[in-house]
Amino acid sequence: MDINAISTQIDLDIQGVHSSEGLEEFRLKYLGRKGVIAELTSTIPSLSKDERAAFGQQVNSLKNRLLALVEDKQKTLSVQSENTTYTSFDIGMPGIAQGLGHLHPVTQITDEICSIFSRLGFSIVDGPEIETEYNNFTGLNIPLEHPSREAFDTFYLKDYAKLLLRSHTSPVQVRAMQERKPPLAIVVPGRVYRPDAVDASHSFMFHQIEGFMVDAGIKFSDLKGVLEKFAKAIFGNTINMRFRPHFFPFTEPSAEVDISCIICKGKGCSVCGRKGWLEILGSGMIHPHVFKHVGIDAKKYTGFAFGLGVERIAMLKYGINDIRLFFENDLRFLKQF
Ligand code: PHE
Repeated sequence: MDINAISTQIDLDIQGVHSSEGLEEFRLKYLGRKGVIAELTSTIPSLSKDERAAFGQQVNSLKNRLLALVEDKQKTLSVQSENTTYTSFDIGMPGIAQGLGHLHPVTQITDEICSIFSRLGFSIVDGPEIETEYNNFTGLNIPLEHPSREAFDTFYLKDYAKLLLRSHTSPVQVRAMQERKPPLAIVVPGRVYRPDAVDASHSFMFHQIEGFMVDAGIKFSDLKGVLEKFAKAIFGNTINMRFRPHFFPFTEPSAEVDISCIICKGKGCSVCGRKGWLEILGSGMIHPHVFKHVGIDAKKYTGFAFGLGVERIAMLKYGINDIRLFFENDLRFLKQF
């Protein structure tokens, strides 16, 4: 038998081994009891004395090479089999992660505002978005023929003439004052509706927070103190605040509240229209007519009320220039909060 031919055959055979069964077959063929090496060894005694030593050495080195080949192949196969286990079923591999969401910026700022008032002792109260005509208007001293109805115009429910979508959160003043007795300190977050054409600063639906306090001896200075605490908590301690006389049917006197422009610090810029001031809410002392409508004695009790637009506060705080961004559900916008 030609040792060289066998050696070549060994190389070819080992290349064809791709499994442990194949390797065992290979091992038996060459190293088994009736294998090639055994066969070669058995021919040694028949050789001439001169040939024996050299041939024996050749067979021996061939045997060592085979042992090394089998060992190597065993290692490669076991690594491969580990790898295939991992790729086909890897219990340690992370799954497809679900993106974690978070609260909408309007909800976040609503919570922030409510928690400021809650720390000042206010309770948080809810009211319905479908309201009676009485609570949205008449109870708030906006009589049917009064022109200020137009400022709070809204959507009416078709088949229920006296039901509408509330155009402000103020109707909850009427509800709360009918249901509870003073002292009252209440904030009301919620959606409101107005038939406005949608543009960068108008939406047919937006969010307000109403606040009011009723007790014996509540003064305008209490309103001022509470609102100053609120404005500084939201916009920072360095802002200035001013009350500007205004008209609301349900408060007397009434005022709109401005803060010094947070962009230009009051010097005048494009955001504040060169005025140096930004309007943040409407407020005033609760009108005696409102107390009369809800059955509270206006001689005994006084109170203040205010109402703010949540989107407006968020827009000022974060420098957002279009109210529509809040409602388009665009993650590129929402993810920034
Ligand atoms: N309801 C008023 C509005 O929507 C805001 C307001 C509330 C003003 C309470 C004064 C007192 O514009």
